[in-house]
Amino acid sequence: MRDLLARCRKLLGPNHETPRNAEIMDLLEELCDQLGMHFALEEAFGYFEDAIYEAPQLSSAAESLRQEHAVLFCVFCGVTEIAERLRYRHASVRQRQELAEAFHCFDAAFCDHESREAALIVQAIQDEIGVGD
Ligand SMILES: [Fe+2]
Repeated sequence: MRDLLARCRKLLGPNHETPRNAEIMDLLEELCDQLGMHFALEEAFGYFEDAIYEAPQLSSAAESLRQEHAVLFCVFCGVTEIAERLRYRHASVRQRQELAEAFHCFDAAFCDHESREAALIVQAIQDEIGVGD
């Protein structure tokens, strides 16, 4: 998924020459599948740290992170809807900007989410091994 995100950032970045709409759409569809799988796996298997579920403050943070998945997925679906509208026609500069802005908005929210998940896992590990005690 990191590779797909990196390719999307590049294709929708400010310095990239105009890519074909179908190319962006194919990439976003692939990313959509991977994103759904990524969230489903996290929700099915949790964050792999029992300490998170044993500590009330961590388990509530984990639950609120889990609830963000549906929101992030909806935001990403909004990106693919914009791309779908442009798939078979010439996109104006404004339309391409709208797509890029929507993608970067999702990307920023997703990266923030991932970084808070990573911090939660680190916190759980530190609590478990007693770092800072
Ligand atoms: Fe997550």
